[in-house]
Amino acid sequence: MPLLIKNGEVITADRRTQADIYIEDETITEIGETLSVPEGTEVIDASGKYVFPGFIDPHVHIYLPFMGSYAKDTHETGSQAALLGGTTTFIEMCCPAAHEDALEGYQHWKTLAEGNAACDYAFHMGVTRFDDATEAQLREIVADGTGSFKVFLAYKGAFGIDDEALFKTLTLAKELGVITTAHTENAELVAQMQAKLLSEGKTGPEWHEPSRPEYVEADGVHHFATFLEATGAKGYIVHLSCEPALDAALEAKQRGVDLAIESVIPHLMLDKTYAERPDFEGAKYVMSPPLRDKRNQTALWEALSRGDISTVGTDHAPFDTAQKSMGRTDFTRIPNGVPAIEDRVNLLYTYGVSRGQLDIHRFVDAASTRAAKLFGLYPRKGTVDVGSDADLVVYDPEYRGQLSAKTQTMNVDYNGFEGVEIDGRPEVVTVRGVIQVRAGQFVGDKARGRFLRRETGG
Ligand code: URP
Ligand code: ZN
Ligand code: ZN
Repeated sequence: MPLLIKNGEVITADRRTQADIYIEDETITEIGETLSVPEGTEVIDASGKYVFPGFIDPHVHIYLPFMGSYAKDTHETGSQAALLGGTTTFIEMCCPAAHEDALEGYQHWKTLAEGNAACDYAFHMGVTRFDDATEAQLREIVADGTGSFKVFLAYKGAFGIDDEALFKTLTLAKELGVITTAHTENAELVAQMQAKLLSEGKTGPEWHEPSRPEYVEADGVHHFATFLEATGAKGYIVHLSCEPALDAALEAKQRGVDLAIESVIPHLMLDKTYAERPDFEGAKYVMSPPLRDKRNQTALWEALSRGDISTVGTDHAPFDTAQKSMGRTDFTRIPNGVPAIEDRVNLLYTYGVSRGQLDIHRFVDAASTRAAKLFGLYPRKGTVDVGSDADLVVYDPEYRGQLSAKTQTMNVDYNGFEGVEIDGRPEVVTVRGVIQVRAGQFVGDKARGRFLRRETGG
């Protein structure tokens, strides 16, 4: 059924207008003042609400075999949680283990998502080793529309790759016009520092941050940027967490390295004191790079406002308290990750736009448009334009609530932002013209989500 969203204030990365939006099939077909209502059209009154383009989370883990366990969400729970939080597209990290076949891994991830996601999705292809077989497979994966890679400089002995593989991956990425996303921490330093702390009897979650200090991340950023410089490839640093790493990235950009920076909502909102909470409560806040000293948040928010940090993702990686307990006597065994797919947009809106200094257009850019542009989805996604997919968020800025594990859809038994106030929420969310969320409830088609083939070479 055609849909008309009437009387809303349409806000994109560069425009603010009072307008009606007409949707036929999956697409926005008309935008204008006081559009007529053809018979058989469903009308949504968006008076007093914002209408944003569907938000894009460029960094999530749904299927994630990691540190001896599996992240808790399925594509069903993760995608519905995403939609309730206004995210209509996510890009999932496809992370086969180094000993696994890349193409088989990729197909496995795709099979898990297909028919099970309520929102649209794409993948960053994890490269955990690089040999002749891998190269041919990566070409096939890119030809299938997955036009971005993911490398881990961290996690020695698991996802982490060596410099030869990094160089070859970036060389191929350059040839194919593919952007490479990277987790940038020096793996060897982390491994050595973890071993030293454990040998001193420092086993609790409060030692996670000291095992990978800020300079370890700054070194990783510098290393990745040097390889980008050598190969001419385009890079994207995921979950940048601290000022020294930011400085290293900005210095690289200054000298011409083609680099974009992502921050994630846990680093913007939480600090290392959360991981220092007693009685193993801190384990809920163990993620990598770790939550940092609070002073870093000022630098991150300022860089986000300026646009030096391009995007805000989540790094959604939900492990429940029983899984976290695997590291009760050894912090290096606590599965890393903080769940956030449901809360990113509301937190960024509340503490950026409503109570902070973040311009509302920069908010839309960082949470949607910029990711669409960087990852080959624009203007199909990331904007409100005639011809774009009708992924829309009717957002109620008058809503007041608190985040809680008791009310969340994410399949995990805690919320790292428990009790945190929010100043708005998505009221209605559409995915390609179909209403998936109404009055803050999931009401839609559990299998609406589609795999997005993306353009490369841009
Ligand atoms: O702690 C994190 N970040 N867990 C997920 C894996 C990763 O590094 O992105
Ligand atoms: Zn990471
Ligand atoms: Zn991640």
